[in-house]
Formats: sequence, structure tokens, C-alpha cells
Amino acid sequence: MIQQIAAGPLVAGQADPTAAAAVEVMVDVRDVHYSISGRPIFSGLSLQAMRGQITAVMGPSGTGKTTLLRLMTAQIYADSGVVTVFGQNLADLGSRQVFALRRRMGMLFQNSALLSDMDVYENVAFPLREHTDLTEPLIRNLVLTKLNAVGLRGAAQLMPAELSGGMARRVALARAIVMDPELLIYDEPFVGLDPIALGVILRLIQQLNTALGITSIIVSHDVHELASIAHRSYLMASGTIVAGGTPEDLARSPLPIVRQFMSGNPDGPAPFHYPAPDLISEFLSGGAAPAAGSGS
Ligand SMILES: Nc1ncnc2c1ncn2[C@@H]1O[C@H](COP(=O)(O)OP(=O)(O)OP(=O)(O)O)[C@@H](O)[C@H]1O
Ligand SMILES: [Mg+2]
Repeated sequence: MIQQIAAGPLVAGQADPTAAAAVEVMVDVRDVHYSISGRPIFSGLSLQAMRGQITAVMGPSGTGKTTLLRLMTAQIYADSGVVTVFGQNLADLGSRQVFALRRRMGMLFQNSALLSDMDVYENVAFPLREHTDLTEPLIRNLVLTKLNAVGLRGAAQLMPAELSGGMARRVALARAIVMDPELLIYDEPFVGLDPIALGVILRLIQQLNTALGITSIIVSHDVHELASIAHRSYLMASGTIVAGGTPEDLARSPLPIVRQFMSGNPDGPAPFHYPAPDLISEFLSGGAAPAAGSGS
């Protein structure tokens, strides 16, 4: 069944610690409001990611998927509402505790974000060198094990500029798991990949989830790819979660916004335009045009 989630507290994972343990909520976002420069990005957003599951958060471009991940990793803080990770309210944590919490998470960034002046080996070793005092032989073992897991042990000496997009994504994935995270957060892991490279990443995400028991949160607009691996999916629109359930639930939803998103239709409730002043008045005012005629 589609679960439509209203703003406000959800039932699972509430104050009773035994109840929270039973449902094993790893990330709990409750009634979060967040604005940037007075523009609301989230207005009552709630969702949960359960231990050992793959949770997909889908939504059109610009809805705030990356912003949501920044909230979950305490890079930014909600204006109101609560974000709890591993049972800890992020708003209560000092910088040292946030640092400790982040060591339990791996993050695959939207653009892979490899360090361009380091080879593949050093990119994967980087978190270990930053956060641990492990000896060089131990670092080598860990790096080669993780590179092997993503099929790129043979590429250890290549520089990022020598990698294809799919390879770079896999190196970033090896780096994200090198500290053995309990929670792995993926921002658009499939963007720009050909079907084969995409299939490889998809399989790796699933393997990491099942073989290592890593809890995964994936934000993406690739509905069909996510449907094949997610245990639970949420659809985000207009600053809130409009629907949640299994991917099959979402595919069957009669809600116009869900149908628009699942079918990729440009016309529907999701707006095409970023918020802007009225078109006619903006052109007539002459203020917004990019330096036309200057320099001639
Ligand atoms: N640092 C910032 N300063 C100003 N506006 C921002 C900032 N970060 C995000 N935004 C705005 O917040 C909204 C959500 O951005 P976000 O990057 O989270 O979207 P997204 O869903 O990840 O989009 P995409 O699918 O294109 O990656 C956008 O309208 C964006 O312009
Ligand atoms: Mg994004």
C-alpha cells in the first residue's frame, strides 16, 4: 500500500528505546523545515531509513535531495524538526561527536569528487590516512581489498584523469567503504553512466548491502534503476515526502505527482521553472538581462 506521509511525527522509532531498537531506525528525519535565503526547501519533511535496507529518495532535480543528505551528515542543520542518525539527535552533537558520527558513514558524492592530483590508490587510502594511525601494510591491505571489491585493483596506479566515468564512480565507492561504514549514502550514483557501468554500480550497491549488511540511502531520479534494488522508496516534491512504499507501490500510485515522476512527463504538478518573478514584468523592468550590449 502507498503510505502518504503527512508532516508531523511518525510512529516508528519513538521515545521507547526498546521500540526504537525493534524497528532499527538508522536515520530518522522528522518534520524538518529548512529554508535557504528565505526560500523554503523543506516544509515538514519526514522519512526513515532502516538498518540493513536500501532506502531510495527520489525527486525531480532541484527538490532538495543533496540538501537532505547534507542535513543527514550534519553539514547543515534544520530550522526546525529533528534529524536523528544512529539514535543521536544531530542538533545535540558537538563538532567532535559529529566527526565521530561521520566516521561511521560513507558518502558517494554526486560528482565522484576524486582528488585529481592523487592516484587511485591514494584516493582510496585518503580517509585512512586522515582518520587512523594504521601502519602502511595495513593500509595497503585495506585499500587493495576495497579496490578488489569494486573490480579495480589493477587500476591502483592510474590517475583520476585516466579513468572513465564509471571507473571513477567505482573508485569513489571504494573510498566510501574503506572505513567500513555502517551507513552508506549515495548522491546520484547512476548519473552519466552507460548501461553496463550502471549495471555494475547497481550490483555493487546491492552486494555491499547484502554481503556487508551496510544500510544504504540513495538519492536519485533514476526511478527504474532504484526500483530494482530499493526496499523502500520515498518521493519528494514541494518540500515534503508525497509518497512512500515499495517501488511497486509507487508504480501503482494514482497520485498525479507520483505518476508524473514515474512516467517522466514534463507536464504535471512538478513545476518546470525555478521560482522567478512574473516573466512579462521582469522583461519590461530590464533589470535581469545578462549584460546585453555591454562592451560593443
Ligand atoms: N548553498 C546553497 N545556496 C543557495 N541555494 C542552494 C544551496 N544549496 C542548494 N540550494 C538550492 O536548494 C534547492 C535544492 O538543491 P539540491 O542541490 O538539494 O537539489 P537536488 O534535488 O539535489 O537537485 P539535483 O537532482 O539537480 O542534484 C535548489 O533550488 C538549489 O538552488
Ligand atoms: Mg543533487
